[in-house]
Amino acid sequence: MKGLFITFEGIDGSGKSTQAMLLKDRFNQLNRPVVFTKEPGGTPLGKKIREILLNDNMNPVSEFLLFAADRKEHAEKIIIPSLADGKIVISDRFADSSVAYQGFGRGVPIDFINFIHQNILSGLKPNLTFIVDILPEIGLGRLAEKDRIERGGMDFLNKVREGYLELARADKRFVVMDGTTAPEKVANSIWEFISRWELSNG
Ligand code: TYD
Repeated sequence: MKGLFITFEGIDGSGKSTQAMLLKDRFNQLNRPVVFTKEPGGTPLGKKIREILLNDNMNPVSEFLLFAADRKEHAEKIIIPSLADGKIVISDRFADSSVAYQGFGRGVPIDFINFIHQNILSGLKPNLTFIVDILPEIGLGRLAEKDRIERGGMDFLNKVREGYLELARADKRFVVMDGTTAPEKVANSIWEFISRWELSNG
């Protein structure tokens, strides 16, 4: 059986988590087997790593390596086994978050990030990645409370956003959605895209 791996990306406050949940609900309504997961903190060990990441100041490379440790656990314990069972896996953030935040945002060399990912992820790559795009000033305005990374500021989040858009220009797996559109409309567009994609790739 062949699984389907779909990830959601975007800056903080973009609404990507809402979209990830709405997509999970649609698959559930059709009784299609779906596993909903997230980074950081998709596994018990990952939850501990997440606490450190969201609270302690650290060097950007250390930060990336902790996200990478969380991701390795997540891939081995949840994503890869679920895909092997033929399930649909929806992850709220995955490897592209590190390229955008630690790479484009904090200046960790992207080659280094890609090298680590290649060595820890056994070729695991999303089939489709939806980037919910929003200007940082709008995204940040939507957040009630900010964690350490979200407090990185407007310049930082602008770089992260530009990073996502650059990734999207380079690979057809990415679909950029306008995060200022009403959530139900975005969800409909995502669903239409997936339906068409499955027809031509299924
Ligand atoms: P989280 O609290 O789950 O926020 P959100 O609900 O916006 O996804 O994620 C925590 C923060 O971690 C978020 O600001 C994005 C950041 N992050 C990275 O910087 N690099 C990464 O690789 C990942 C997965 C997340």
